[in-house]
Amino acid sequence: MKIAVLPGDGIGPEIVAQAIKVLEALRGDGLKIEMEHAPIGGAGYDAAGDPLPEATLALAKASDAVLLGAVGDWKYDTLPRDKRPERGLLRIRKELNLFANLRPALLYPELAAASTLKPEVVSGLDIMIVRELTGDVYFGQPRGISTLPNGEREGINTMRYNESEIRRIGRVAFEIAMKRNKKVCSIDKANVLETTELWRQVMIEVAKDYPQVELSHMYVDNAAMQLVRAPKQFDVMVTGNIFGDILSDEASMLTGSIGMLPSASLDQHNKGMYEPSHGSAPDIAGKDIANPLATILSAAMMLRYTFNDEANAARVENAVKKTLAQGVRTADIVTEGCRKVGCAAMGDAVVANLG
Ligand code: IPM
Ligand code: MG
Repeated sequence: MKIAVLPGDGIGPEIVAQAIKVLEALRGDGLKIEMEHAPIGGAGYDAAGDPLPEATLALAKASDAVLLGAVGDWKYDTLPRDKRPERGLLRIRKELNLFANLRPALLYPELAAASTLKPEVVSGLDIMIVRELTGDVYFGQPRGISTLPNGEREGINTMRYNESEIRRIGRVAFEIAMKRNKKVCSIDKANVLETTELWRQVMIEVAKDYPQVELSHMYVDNAAMQLVRAPKQFDVMVTGNIFGDILSDEASMLTGSIGMLPSASLDQHNKGMYEPSHGSAPDIAGKDIANPLATILSAAMMLRYTFNDEANAARVENAVKKTLAQGVRTADIVTEGCRKVGCAAMGDAVVANLG
């Protein structure tokens, strides 16, 4: 199995280094993997004038899986839009056809006190957000900023989804629900937006093939509210690209810190790109204080979804649980009585707990 490692910008390199430590330890125990590094985002721009250099894309295409850190830094904010780090990320998602983004929001019992919500509201929380990743207003044409005849500027983005795009993400959500609590909540704004009216219709059609799964629908504004009011009502949430972007950040805070939330972005054949749900946090880059757990847990998702290696996936997840149970915490999740450590020390602790 070949893994393309794309550390990216900001805290990307340091958090990815911790996930690599974990993968190297598994390799020492017989896991057959090969890793190759390449630049993406601002690092891609610095190396090759392109946030997704051709060589990086070629490596990603030739690999079985991609491990990504994060992209973006203020110093690239003044570049033309197509040179900005985020564009590299969006392009690699599109080029590899990674339409299914899985973002589990799982609360580790030890972190109940780290959440800004009351422990009784979040304890036992286990939500899987299934976000469509290659369509919607993120990619819809027409788009751009143009000047109207009266000299005023206008910005345009287009929210669009066709039936087959909705159906394939719907199937992913229902398949996942079958392995969990058999509940899918589809998020839309069908009272206002036709795109999502179609979304709702197609979800109802997909549900016919999964009679054991209970399908419900919720407007996105209500979903945002319910996530903080009573988040445990959710099992699988299936969303379009932009709603999923927003709701997954919100859901991450239920778990104590966005530094805990991994993600998998999969194509039709379970080839995948694995990255933490959080960003590049340039303000804390290089300070050895970032939380590497979301990246380490993303590597566990890689083992599960692309390599079909449930045993090693569980081994990594258990090592993370054990580390938390020992009271080891990075700054973002530290609470009274715990031991605060840096990014590298957290990686070492997880490796030591692999058992
Ligand atoms: C995410 C990020 C990206 C997105 C940005 C960096 C383009 O927020 O992965 O959630 O909007 O998809
Ligand atoms: Mg986001």
